[in-house]
Amino acid sequence: MATTNSDGDKSPKKFSLKHFKKALEIFTFVRPYRFKLILGLVLLFFSSMVFMIFPYLSGEMVDIALGKSRFNISLKQVGLILLAILVVQGFISYYRVLLFASVSERGIADVRRALYERLITLPVVFFEKSRVGELVSRLTADVERLYNAFSITLAEFMRQIIILVSGILFLAVTTPKLSLIMLATFPVIVIGAMVFGRKIRRLSKERQKELANSNIILNETMQNIQVVKAFTNELLESLRYGKSIDNTVDVSLRYARGRALFAVFIVSILFGALFFIVWQGAIMVSTGVITPGQLISFVVYTAIIGGAIAGLGNFYTELLGAIGATERVREILNENGEVDVKHKVEEPVKKLMGHIQFKDVHFSYPTRPDVQVLNGIDFTVEPGQKIALVGPSGAGKSTIVQLLLKFYPVSEGEILVDGKSIYDLDTTAYRKNIAIVPQEVLLFGGTIRENILYGKPDASEEEVLAAAEKANALEFIESFPEGMETMVGERGIKLSGGQRQRIAIARAILKNPSILLLDEATSSLDAESEKVVQDALDKLMEGRTSIIIAHRLATVRNVDCIHVIEKGSIVESGTHEELSAIENGIYNSLARLQFELA
Ligand SMILES: Nc1ncnc2c1ncn2[C@@H]1O[C@H](COP(=O)(O)OP(=O)(O)O)[C@@H](O)[C@H]1O
Ligand SMILES: [Mg+2]
Repeated sequence: MATTNSDGDKSPKKFSLKHFKKALEIFTFVRPYRFKLILGLVLLFFSSMVFMIFPYLSGEMVDIALGKSRFNISLKQVGLILLAILVVQGFISYYRVLLFASVSERGIADVRRALYERLITLPVVFFEKSRVGELVSRLTADVERLYNAFSITLAEFMRQIIILVSGILFLAVTTPKLSLIMLATFPVIVIGAMVFGRKIRRLSKERQKELANSNIILNETMQNIQVVKAFTNELLESLRYGKSIDNTVDVSLRYARGRALFAVFIVSILFGALFFIVWQGAIMVSTGVITPGQLISFVVYTAIIGGAIAGLGNFYTELLGAIGATERVREILNENGEVDVKHKVEEPVKKLMGHIQFKDVHFSYPTRPDVQVLNGIDFTVEPGQKIALVGPSGAGKSTIVQLLLKFYPVSEGEILVDGKSIYDLDTTAYRKNIAIVPQEVLLFGGTIRENILYGKPDASEEEVLAAAEKANALEFIESFPEGMETMVGERGIKLSGGQRQRIAIARAILKNPSILLLDEATSSLDAESEKVVQDALDKLMEGRTSIIIAHRLATVRNVDCIHVIEKGSIVESGTHEELSAIENGIYNSLARLQFELA
């Protein structure tokens, strides 16, 4: 049963001309493969028509056996015709399926590629505005729907329509009177099936929701198992999960009751109608209005037509779902990417000097436009200079770094690098000049070498080793039995914070940026690893414009200028000596506080 209209689903519930036009948009995805698709549809038409000969022939055989056939033909000949039809049908179906598979696989692969390429180039804001988990599952589900539409639904939908139209036409011509009786029973069946179908679908959806709920509990607790255990909440969670499972059983049983009733309905009404028709047909045979063979053909056709109608409902909702999916996929494809993945991969990057200037920068995050995070930030960094940003957490220090990475547009003011607004610079070329070492380094699943290479994918082995060495990382890497090939990430070895930091530094060394951003790079480290990491950072900073966000003031004594940030404004600036000289200065009180704590 098709599940449509889940939360956030825009699938149309009814069909209109507008939807029809939208439906046609589905085909834009397989445009490059249209000839194959058309050929497939032609084959589909033939195989469906050939299929429709069988009921006729079975009736005809009975009439031949009873000597009532209008044709002068033997049973043996009919057998041969059947055999020939079977063979032809086999060939046609085989190629039809292959054609549809080829169209859907290739077309959908294109869609996936295009979507990923678009997604990965979208600005950070896009990911903050949409929940990423939801986005990913929505996209995979939508793409799967499109895939189903092209691989199965479309073909089956067409087939059912062909069967329906040709079957009814055939019956209307050969046995018009019996056809009318059949048509009279239709409304009862169709309305009944619709009512039941709706109820069952709703219950099935409810059941899915309950199941999802219990899965959320399962996921959450497994991922935070240490928290659960530390708070000894095993029993509480068991009860919570158990309750959710009970709910699922409740809904499932109601769902089962719905299906059971539906089964009763099918047996009594549907078969009742069928037997009624057969009964009427038998009366007609006894009075000689139709031949026994015609009755048999009629019954078989009716069964096939009934099946086609039942199938149509399903495929119809699935097609509506595919239309909704198309819309959402196109929505993403129509978003504006900030970088072009394909361009200038080989082109050497223009090296920036690393002159940075913030001019009266005001900023609030696009997701929280009412909260002013930066209120007129002004500072300049000369090429090769090091400056530090210090201040309480939440002051806006990381925000300054994010803005420099061009993740967001400023609300007011300007950010200039080498005298040009960063928003006028090509994003990719610009970012190639910047490296960041954050507080928490996330490594990708893969080897240590791959993670270091992330800074410069085409680096040579010597470069990688030199970078690791300079980052004070080579020693610990070589202490692993597999060295550079050691797997890290979810399925690999767990590195300590200091080790991850040094890999990040090696990455940055390989990237060889003009501008270096250190956002509390050593804040979460213990004193010992802080020393090795700081030493590596010092080497990394040599000759580069560096902005250092530091928690511990002791680490930034030697920078050219320290800016104290508070509530989105610079409240004090100067060297360590200058700031220390201000008797009641903020820097001084921060320093004193840390000194006391130490
Ligand atoms: N991605 C974000 N979206 C919305 N608000 C944010 C985001 N990141 C930070 N903020 C808010 O901006 C303010 C400054 O944060 P941040 O620059 O990270 O401070 P700092 O690095 O100085 O501790 C905080 O109030 C924080 O809640
Ligand atoms: Mg921060």
